[in-house]
Amino acid sequence: MRLVLLFTFFLSANGFDFIVENLKKYVNHDADPCDDFYRHACPLDVGIPRDLVFLGFQDILAKNSLKNPRAWDKFSVKKDIFERPRNETFNDKIEELYLHLCENEGNTTLMLKHLEPILFNPAECRGRFCLAYIRDDPNCKRAAKHLNSKLSRDMALYLSESLIEYHNQFFEFVTFIQILNAILDIDVRDGIHLVEEYLEDMKKIAIEWVQKTPWAINNEVSKSIKSLIEQIYLFDNYGENLRNSIDLFIKIEKAYTDCKAQYNDSKKAVELCFLIVSQDPKLKIDVETLSFSDANAYYGLPSIYMGFAYYYVAQFTEAVSAKIGFSGGCVGHEFGHGLIKSTSADDLTYFSNNSRNCIQNQYNSTCKEFVEQSCDTYDKQVDENGADIIGLQLAYELLERHCKDDLKTIYKPLNVTHQQLFFYATAVSYCQGKRSHTITRMDGTLDSHASANIRVNAMISQHPGFKDAFQCSKESRMIKSAVDQCIIYGEHAPQTRKH
Ligand SMILES: *[C@@H]1O[C@H](CO)[C@@H](O)[C@H](O)[C@H]1NC(C)=O
Ligand SMILES: *[C@@H]1O[C@H](CO)[C@@H](O)[C@H](O)[C@H]1NC(C)=O
Ligand SMILES: *[C@@H]1O[C@H](CO)[C@@H](O)[C@H](O)[C@H]1NC(C)=O
Ligand SMILES: *[C@@H]1O[C@H](CO)[C@@H](O)[C@H](O)[C@H]1NC(C)=O
Ligand SMILES: *[C@@H]1O[C@H](CO)[C@@H](O)[C@H](O)[C@H]1NC(C)=O
Ligand SMILES: *[C@@H]1O[C@H](CO)[C@@H](O)[C@H](O)[C@H]1NC(C)=O
Repeated sequence: MRLVLLFTFFLSANGFDFIVENLKKYVNHDADPCDDFYRHACPLDVGIPRDLVFLGFQDILAKNSLKNPRAWDKFSVKKDIFERPRNETFNDKIEELYLHLCENEGNTTLMLKHLEPILFNPAECRGRFCLAYIRDDPNCKRAAKHLNSKLSRDMALYLSESLIEYHNQFFEFVTFIQILNAILDIDVRDGIHLVEEYLEDMKKIAIEWVQKTPWAINNEVSKSIKSLIEQIYLFDNYGENLRNSIDLFIKIEKAYTDCKAQYNDSKKAVELCFLIVSQDPKLKIDVETLSFSDANAYYGLPSIYMGFAYYYVAQFTEAVSAKIGFSGGCVGHEFGHGLIKSTSADDLTYFSNNSRNCIQNQYNSTCKEFVEQSCDTYDKQVDENGADIIGLQLAYELLERHCKDDLKTIYKPLNVTHQQLFFYATAVSYCQGKRSHTITRMDGTLDSHASANIRVNAMISQHPGFKDAFQCSKESRMIKSAVDQCIIYGEHAPQTRKH
């Protein structure tokens, strides 16, 4: 089985330039970039999916995971579990297996021994924690029924629920591994290393800024911010994590087939064997780690988690300016969360009120100018809005360092300068082919992210690099709606005296 997997690891697949292909297809050249940059780069009504990056990468991964689907069907745990009827109750299945074993000279002792630790968790088989006596009833039907009722209703319900939960996790897990397999086929290790370098460079830049920041110096927090920054790192989800997932899958398969072999590989043992697997703490499926196969990213001190899309672009997009705009912008945003304090629970001990107000004023102003269906600026967004602003500043700083002499050079495939391409790539990463509106979560509360068009126009309109790249006039909507750039960190950041 390992051989099958290793074989698929080495299938090669060529990537494509996600940024260039989409910009070629969609940019509205009739619209002035200084008017509404987001809709110039990501127009409505031209067939853009409602979430370009997320759906685009689902397609890429699905195509690749279909290349070798049969390999997965050879795993008996996958086959059995996917075919398992889900309408039958757990204790009836147990009764059925017992009856079968009892009537066919199977090993009922083994079955009872398998059930005991799951039902009672005892150190040794004693008194009511022991099922061995059931085996001594020569009437198989009666014994099997007794076993069924012995699984008291509560117990059966509990086991059946935990089995359903494991079942669902297992489904997710198999899908995840198919995607991991596709990811290995595509192999974005170089992209991961590049994003790691971007983050390390951004950390250095941020530390330089923090050490010159008046509000941080005046309130004696530069040292503590620096020590927070130094801890942050990129969680390398496709390295170790990926191998671990496949190892776990193989362990589950082995435990399951070993169990079934003890029951003569009978179909009737599917339920019991899957139950045994689901109750083994060593075979626990950590669903948390399964969500990184898409276009998501998030920050939780000290880790930054990024989805496959960002590594893919870092690897297969040709222009450095586009890589930095897209993948650099994303890692900058996640890192930016560590540099903003919006609630007392955040890790920073102090933050500048002036900076917080500046950020919110920008989003408020952009919202008024570019509202589509609806948009709002509220306190809960400070963290995301601030991470947008500071993330873009960090990415742009990186652009200047990497492409110093090439900012005004034309990138031929798109006939735009590298400085412009950086901003186009930023817009692609938030591109949605639907009218933007205030996002309400499932539970009815407002989402902490501003809508996509507001995010892009707010963060780039106030950046001097944008005005320079497109030579926007003061009267253009982008520049009119921009507040003075929010310098959060650096020597020109607000003073804020100690108090
Ligand atoms: C469960 O569904 C299958 C197929 O739909 C059916 O054959 C079987 O009788 C059902 N079992 C129960 C207990 O309803
Ligand atoms: C196990 O398999 C053998 C041969 O295939 C069969 O004779 C026997 O009845 C089976 N036992 C059980 C418990 O199913
Ligand atoms: C039945 O299983 C028990 C417990 O694992 C084992 O000790 C015993 O040898 C088995 N009996 C047969 C006939 O295989
Ligand atoms: C900063 O803003 C918060 C909430 O808006 C307020 O409670 C606090 O007093 C302000 N601090 C200063 C120094 O203005
Ligand atoms: C947004 O601006 C309007 C006025 O231009 C103001 O009344 C409102 O309080 C502002 N909202 C926020 C959240 O800053
Ligand atoms: C490239 O863009 C410039 C303006 O930005 C335009 O004048 C020129 O004609 C374009 N060249 C091509 C080959 O499309």
